[in-house]
Amino acid sequence: MGEVLCMGLTHYPGLLRADEEMSVLLRRRLEDPAVPEEWRQPQRWPVGMQDEWARDGGGVAAAQHRAAVLDGVDRLRAALDTFQPDFIVMWGDDQYENFRDDVIPAFCVLAYDDLEAKPWEAFPYANYWHEPTDATFKVRGSRQAATHIVSQLLADEFDVAYAYKPLHHPSLPHSFLNALLLLDHGRSGFDVPLVPITVNCYGRRVISSKGNPAPLGLQAPFDPTSPSPRRCFDLGRATARIVRDSPWRVALVASSSWSHAFLTDKHYRLFPDVASDRVLYQALVDGDWRVWRDLTLEAVENSGQQEILNWACLAGAMEELGASVDWSSFIETYLFNSTKVIALCQPV
Ligand SMILES: [Fe+2]
Repeated sequence: MGEVLCMGLTHYPGLLRADEEMSVLLRRRLEDPAVPEEWRQPQRWPVGMQDEWARDGGGVAAAQHRAAVLDGVDRLRAALDTFQPDFIVMWGDDQYENFRDDVIPAFCVLAYDDLEAKPWEAFPYANYWHEPTDATFKVRGSRQAATHIVSQLLADEFDVAYAYKPLHHPSLPHSFLNALLLLDHGRSGFDVPLVPITVNCYGRRVISSKGNPAPLGLQAPFDPTSPSPRRCFDLGRATARIVRDSPWRVALVASSSWSHAFLTDKHYRLFPDVASDRVLYQALVDGDWRVWRDLTLEAVENSGQQEILNWACLAGAMEELGASVDWSSFIETYLFNSTKVIALCQPV
């Protein structure tokens, strides 16, 4: 019987930049002529957003945001260092990075061998660590573990795709790579093998918006939908059974922020749906799994929570394993695109 450690974190790209650049998404949104004039004024924003903005336009708030995230990430890293997993299974989204117009799998296990990643090669900003453009990071894979998981998911009638090498992205989509960069933000080295499972979180916007911020009113015809939250939840349950019944020690990790401002149309894509995130967070902490399993895609899209499908996989795994949240943090923000949740369970 395997031992399993469940956790979740963010892969927010703003954390890879300097503090003063962390609110760049909001600043760009404010330049969208389709945003009503009234909504450009801080008086129209939620009080929490006004507070973050008021001091200096977001610089102080960015430093606090980063500190809160890194405090949580440090707890996850300590738990991983203690647990010493044989490998990590991570659910993350692909934002028109590896999968594009030629194929969009609902779920794909990246059964890669070790690879080298150069995260700053196409990064158009100064990075937080001041690392050179050609800085190279080795990411260990585990084809043996990945192919076992694929075979067992197929046996359990989850028709997942798999890949032995990247398609369009030179290494790993940012949901996986950024999570690793944050887990090793102190740069002491991190060489736990990774089995990434991509979840088509962006669904109707994965090709039509290239999984990225888009101006209001310029919406190309929508693509087909994401897998449902229930399917993600059940995939997480199945994955948990597979690793529990294996001889390995495995960390199951969800990688994503929650509601995203740039996906929340009802807020003119200016700020995330924090209230809806709080409802799901309470259900996560309480282990009220019906809330997660019964989520509708309509509600997810209405709240800009597309990426939370990664966490629906984790929630399913937690229910299957009887795992509960041991430590967690709900990091509220309005300026920095998305709510961040960091959560950690005891190994089961
Ligand atoms: Fe993402």
